[in-house]
Amino acid sequence: MMNNGVMTAHRTEELEPSSVLSELAQRIATKTAQVGVIGLGYVGLPLAVEFANVGFSVTGFELDAERAQQVNAGRSYILDVTDASLASLRHSGRLAAVGEYDRLAAMDCILICVPTPLGKARDPNISFILSGATAIAERLRPGQLVILESTTYPGTTNEVILPLLQRSGLEVGREFCLAFSPERIDPGNVQYPLRKIPKVVGGITPACQQLAIQLYRQILQHVVPVSSTKVAEMVKLLENTFRAVNIGLANELALLCDKFGVDSWEVIEAAKTKPFGFMAFYPGPGIGGHCIPKDPMYLAWKARCHGFQPRFIELADQINRQMPHYVVEKISQALNRHKKPINGSHIFLIGLTYKKDVNDTRESPAFEVAQELSARGARLSYFDPYVPSALLNGAASRSVPVTAERLQESDCVVILSNHSQVDYDLVLEQAAVVVDTRHHYSPAQRADGRVVGL
Ligand SMILES: NC(=O)c1ccc[n+]([C@@H]2O[C@H](COP(=O)([O-])OP(=O)(O)OC[C@H]3O[C@@H](n4cnc5c(N)ncnc54)[C@H](O)[C@@H]3O)[C@@H](O)[C@H]2O)c1
Repeated sequence: MMNNGVMTAHRTEELEPSSVLSELAQRIATKTAQVGVIGLGYVGLPLAVEFANVGFSVTGFELDAERAQQVNAGRSYILDVTDASLASLRHSGRLAAVGEYDRLAAMDCILICVPTPLGKARDPNISFILSGATAIAERLRPGQLVILESTTYPGTTNEVILPLLQRSGLEVGREFCLAFSPERIDPGNVQYPLRKIPKVVGGITPACQQLAIQLYRQILQHVVPVSSTKVAEMVKLLENTFRAVNIGLANELALLCDKFGVDSWEVIEAAKTKPFGFMAFYPGPGIGGHCIPKDPMYLAWKARCHGFQPRFIELADQINRQMPHYVVEKISQALNRHKKPINGSHIFLIGLTYKKDVNDTRESPAFEVAQELSARGARLSYFDPYVPSALLNGAASRSVPVTAERLQESDCVVILSNHSQVDYDLVLEQAAVVVDTRHHYSPAQRADGRVVGL
């Protein structure tokens, strides 16, 4: 159904694009469209590279001057993007990063990939989206396609961004287009690079949807159209809320199994053999990264705005957020068995990033574990190949190698992220006590009681 030119429900009919949009379609098809990406982070940089790789001329708009400089120097700060690929795109002239918005007006397609963090009260902070969208609105011209990729609450695209862009006096779906397409990349996942992940696309009008689909088809194998931007926004939140809730269940199972004296991982591994109706999620020290801890909070906030109490989401959040304290409790129990308190003990942390083999520390539960240990008087040191320095014990600390001597000196070793670059056999051989929050060690390796799981 059309409502003031805005698509509000399922529709199959196609709008005749106005001539300015047909021209844009032509430019996309021939890869002569100028692509702009606002925000060159974990999402924006791989996306910019993908468009440049297939032949588009891409400009990255990045406010962090150091990042923009690094891109222009062919140096990548994102693990999934190699220096070589950046350097070659720079050399061919197909990718450039700029620090100001002047060139936005020259872009045909603009993708917004800025952060969407939580505010102090754990409610949505869409200020980065607003600043990017305002910069576009101030320069909007006929024939531009704007796509929001940042994860956000349902309604952001049509209730917040559309009115901003409409201030230009241009008509959506006839003179410019607006769509939402959530980014689904999984940093570090080599099995599913960006081009292999189906892309969900919702447009404000059918023309918006068609143009966005056409653009993504240039770089991706599979596009999934949905009836509105709100549905597309909701899809992303469902996916990450599904993960957060199921991880919450796995964490609760771990707390419960601990009471029963049962190994929760053994239970999950056996349950996993059921060929249908079960999907394995695992307990851990808590949830981290820029998605799983905060995306469900965006949904919960919007639900509350509608007078709806999202109990499932809030419960999972509570359980997941209690896991770092549970880890500290496990450390305390492990030390206690050796007649040692946390206070004064030397505790060696392995892995500070939120998951294995990535360089992202945002929302990592490791920092909460470290903070609580530090507050209880522990002397901390750490190893993380992706985090050369970190704030521990309130002071700057540097990553130190995992050596036999260091392991022997430590009263307790805690595995918080099980990066591949660690000699876990050495850890097992030399450490007096290991708290293994990632279930790295097998039941046989844990048999002598020196390794404590969750
Ligand atoms: N990291 C992930 O794995 C992932 C996966 C899927 C979706 N997302 C979502 O994608 C969005 C971006 O996440 P990210 O991890 O890439 O964030 P990021 O912090 O890695 O990158 C965002 C970049 O945007 C820049 N920036 C901020 N405001 C800007 C502005 N107004 N103009 C220009 N540049 C600006 C920042 O300097 C930063 O470099 C978020 O909404 C996130 O939830 C992230």
